[in-house]
Amino acid sequence: MNDRIRTDIAHNARVWNYWLGGKDNYPVDRAVGDQVTSFHPGIGEVARADRAFLGRVVTGLAGDGVRQFLDIGTGLPTADNTHEVAQRVAPDARIVYVDNDPIVLTHARALLTSSPEGVTAYVDADAHDPERILAAAGEVLDLERPVAVLMLGILNFVLDTDEARSIVRTLMASMPSGSHLVLTHPTLEPELGGEGNRKAMAFWNENATPPITARTREEFTSFFDGLELLGPGVVSCARWGAPEAAAVAQFGAVGRKP
Ligand SMILES: C[S@@+](CC[C@H](N)C(=O)[O-])C[C@H]1O[C@@H](n2cnc3c(N)ncnc32)[C@H](O)[C@@H]1O
Repeated sequence: MNDRIRTDIAHNARVWNYWLGGKDNYPVDRAVGDQVTSFHPGIGEVARADRAFLGRVVTGLAGDGVRQFLDIGTGLPTADNTHEVAQRVAPDARIVYVDNDPIVLTHARALLTSSPEGVTAYVDADAHDPERILAAAGEVLDLERPVAVLMLGILNFVLDTDEARSIVRTLMASMPSGSHLVLTHPTLEPELGGEGNRKAMAFWNENATPPITARTREEFTSFFDGLELLGPGVVSCARWGAPEAAAVAQFGAVGRKP
């Protein structure tokens, strides 16, 4: 086993995999995942809604001609990974995946199953180091052409909001006009039923890794400064492109660089 993989403490990528019904998790992940569910019974629905949002957005962007995707905080391979969704619409789509969890690295082969016309690559890197991510992405993607930057459920692991904004700014500053920023993020906002996240996140931060934080609607919206928000704007990710769906306590939005 990779000696970076710890089985004595729950890891986010593995617990997320557990909530999505996957098998790439350990007893400690399942125990913490069940405890979090006891505080926030809707958490499994959040994970499924987040993946469904990814599917709708990537399908739509590929349909609109986007051919390059940078998916930071990829998670363990699951059904309908970004390249599978994008290449179903555009077989020549190029995808760079980034995660810093050693278990995602050990499963990365399942993400490298590109169509012959396209490309997929995996980078073992930390979101706190956007310059390194840009350098690695630039070896696979043409950063003179539009890129969709996906950060789904990951800025919540950058605890300082100014630093999270700075990471987004650095990434988007290197992308040309016509690029997109796609984000999801948990919240405590009662409008989305987020109150259950408070106890769940406190429990998480005492028992699992990496530590997590929630953000308000205003903080989430600020990540899109300088971009044009598409579609319904900032909504529960469950409702983005599916207005009739029940809300989950996870914001979702897509911005376009003018
Ligand atoms: C909640 S999961 C979301 C997975 C996927 N994006 C999705 O929406 O289904 C968050 C992922 O971000 C990764 N992650 C957390 N902190 C990170 C960091 N600082 N740098 C890179 N990846 C990170 C975790 O390992 C995990 O795979």
